[in-house]
Amino acid sequence: MAKTETDIGAGAVARAADLHREYGRGTAAVRALRGVSAAFAPGTFTAVMGPSGSGKTTLLHCLAGMDRPTRGSVWWGGTEVSRMPERRLAELRRSRVGFVFQAFNLMPAMTVAQNVELPGRLAGERPGRERVLDALARVGLAGRERHRPGELSGGQQQRVAIARALVSRPGVLFADEPTGALDRATGHEILALLRAGVDEDGRTCVMVTHDPVAAGYADRVLLLADGLVAEEIDRPTAARVGERLSRLGEGA
Ligand SMILES: Nc1ncnc2c1ncn2[C@@H]1O[C@H](COP(=O)(O)OP(=O)(O)O)[C@@H](O)[C@H]1O
Ligand SMILES: [Mg+2]
Repeated sequence: MAKTETDIGAGAVARAADLHREYGRGTAAVRALRGVSAAFAPGTFTAVMGPSGSGKTTLLHCLAGMDRPTRGSVWWGGTEVSRMPERRLAELRRSRVGFVFQAFNLMPAMTVAQNVELPGRLAGERPGRERVLDALARVGLAGRERHRPGELSGGQQQRVAIARALVSRPGVLFADEPTGALDRATGHEILALLRAGVDEDGRTCVMVTHDPVAAGYADRVLLLADGLVAEEIDRPTAARVGERLSRLGEGA
């Protein structure tokens, strides 16, 4: 029997169904996503790869409820979020998903602890001190809570950003090139941290990366090209991913 849309994503914590996203209209329209379907099972680590401009960031933003698709839908478990009113979505987003950016996006004038508390405060909550310290301890930053971001290394700043994303204990963590601004050794520490969250805490992780070695930490690679999933690679190795990427480049 043919698989229905619901079969494809049964049990997924996050799912994109025939996602389209256009920017602008008419002849100036850019079709960033042209029909992407993908499901993310609990406790899995997916790397999203593809050439610059292939739609990776747009896909991540739509999956995380930070952008709205033009057509198609996004689901978190059994809840469709792509058409949810903004206020309800913002509330749900805070408890369900975390997001980490390449450039850390920390507030330089605030302490590490204040940065981690910020999303909760903006939502009118006071996240318990215990939760904040626990989140910092989990990323290896115990004792750093009074420091300012500028007093920390790049890798430590990204750890603060991860603690901020995880303080509400979301089931899914999205990361857009989280190691893009870091040297290789520091990048591997961050990747090991993301991997441990999947293996030890059962979190789901979806990460955009350009680096085949980083993709080797994932269980699966989704290779995007021109707004579509061009290929899916299970149990990726750096060598295999590198080979597929270069083949995609030749075909372009
Ligand atoms: N806010 C925007 N306005 C107009 N075009 C955009 C916007 N965001 C992304 N795009 C375009 O959509 C396409 C996909 O972009 P993006 O998702 O950022 O790709 P990637 O992350 O793979 O580099 C690109 O052509 C990009 O220029
Ligand atoms: Mg991008």
